[in-house]
Amino acid sequence: MQNAIAKTLFIPLAARLYATQKFPEYFHDDVILRLREKIPENFMKISSEYEMLASAARYHETDLMIREFISAHGVCNVVNLGCGLETLAFRIDDGQAKVYGIDLPEVISFRVDSLPVHKNETLIAGDMFDMQWVERIQRDLPTIFVSNGVFMYFETAKILNFVADLKKNFNNAELVFDATTRWGIHCANFYVSRIDKDLAKMHFFVQNPEEFARRCDCKLARFAHFFTTAREMLRKKTKFSTRLLMAFVDTFDLAFLLRLKIS
Ligand SMILES: C[S@@+](CC[C@H](N)C(=O)[O-])C[C@H]1O[C@@H](n2cnc3c(N)ncnc32)[C@H](O)[C@@H]1O
Repeated sequence: MQNAIAKTLFIPLAARLYATQKFPEYFHDDVILRLREKIPENFMKISSEYEMLASAARYHETDLMIREFISAHGVCNVVNLGCGLETLAFRIDDGQAKVYGIDLPEVISFRVDSLPVHKNETLIAGDMFDMQWVERIQRDLPTIFVSNGVFMYFETAKILNFVADLKKNFNNAELVFDATTRWGIHCANFYVSRIDKDLAKMHFFVQNPEEFARRCDCKLARFAHFFTTAREMLRKKTKFSTRLLMAFVDTFDLAFLLRLKIS
């Protein structure tokens, strides 16, 4: 893959595979088992148990929010912005949700060669920031946007403009995305540079979720720490060091998901 951000899609993919194999009671996704041989070895080997769980935790929590949204709204759109090789359509597998995956053309073509397309899923090749994709979506339906592992690669101004564009185009919509603090971004950049120094650097962080929601002119519907459920469900199944780090990160609000009511 040519784009420096596109190459990062192997990081969360490796983590979802790891969780599926090691902690299936917490997260599992049968579809990705067939992608094992597509993941470069350096993405599988370097990460600790904590680092793998830090990446996989987002999908456990996001899936819960998507299911909640579908049960509240019935027929709706689930739009995965920067979908990479995320297979949430197979995990959700709900007849009521129309799932869209948007990513750069080189990623969508790699994806189509590597993965089946779910019957409720539409893939859109393009730049999510240019908003041309909105024409492909039924905009009068309630819509939940999900973007995991994507926003941090961009500058804050670009993300604020993007949320404003979503507000302009959709009437009944929510947005779920993962974020960390300024310090968390330094740690995340250090982690990614250990895997491959040519991978894209991260910039965007959220120091104060309420204030960020105000800047977007949105309501903060939910603030979820990454590890609340992992710590409950996995308890002593993880290493002591993993448990310690998860507790530290949750206590100091270092990694979280924001759910914004955008319109
Ligand atoms: C770290 S990966 C995350 C992939 C996926 N969301 C996941 O959780 O597995 C970042 C993704 O953002 C995509 N991306 C980067 N810039 C983009 C853009 N302008 N429009 C759409 N997708 C983009 C990359 O191609 C890549 O697939």
